[in-house]
Amino acid sequence: MRTVYYTASSLDGYIADERHAIDWLMQFPDGGHSSYPEFIARIGALCMGSHTYEWMWQHHIGPAAAEPMAWPYAQPTWVFSSRDLPRRPDSDVRFARGDVRTAHAVMAEVAAGKDVWVVGGGDLAGQFHDAGLLDEIIVTTVPVTLGRGMPVLPRRITSPPLQLVSVRQMGPAFVQLHYQVQRISGTAAAPDRP
Ligand SMILES: NC(=O)c1ccc[n+]([C@@H]2O[C@H](COP(=O)([O-])OP(=O)(O)OC[C@H]3O[C@@H](n4cnc5c(N)ncnc54)[C@H](OP(=O)(O)O)[C@@H]3O)[C@@H](O)[C@H]2O)c1
Repeated sequence: MRTVYYTASSLDGYIADERHAIDWLMQFPDGGHSSYPEFIARIGALCMGSHTYEWMWQHHIGPAAAEPMAWPYAQPTWVFSSRDLPRRPDSDVRFARGDVRTAHAVMAEVAAGKDVWVVGGGDLAGQFHDAGLLDEIIVTTVPVTLGRGMPVLPRRITSPPLQLVSVRQMGPAFVQLHYQVQRISGTAAAPDRP
């Protein structure tokens, strides 16, 4: 079981602009080049921060969504928030707050050998890293710059640096960078795929 932060980022390192908009990302047709289907197939549980969840609620899954869609995840999903947030009856959404280690222990158990996906945002991924629980970072770089916004991973990770596992061109526009988090001891787990 691995805990993986899988996201898309602008070239200058933002996963959303300062208004939480991702129109700059959605402008690209998938074109059948996305790695998402193979990625989600190995996920047993996922988690996200409240702003990511609220963005989904507002745009896609809430009653007033501009572009309504079904709850997109078959896997149990943990939403981190200090507030009480709404939940759709057809979704397996569970709420958590505080130390990520508490929720992670349950996510790992529920995932039953499959991986845990940290959807974002960047600080939540940073909390998993702070706790020594983040194993991999997979960032798809999108050929735009935003100037400012929500950073991909607002932490200083320099020593040991991240270990590059692979670089994949995804269609005509995207580049996917796959990193493994090295532990202080230098004993990073071996990657289980290219
Ligand atoms: N480019 C991509 O692929 C991609 C992927 C994911 C997300 N996004 C976008 O990126 C943006 C991320 O927003 P964001 O950086 O503000 O992050 P976020 O993680 O979505 O939300 C942060 C909020 O989550 C709550 N939270 C986080 N950790 C918590 C903890 N341990 N305990 C309790 N509550 C906790 C806090 O709010 P409260 O306590 O007030 O609820 C915190 O302010 C969103 O707009 C999202 O749509 C983009």
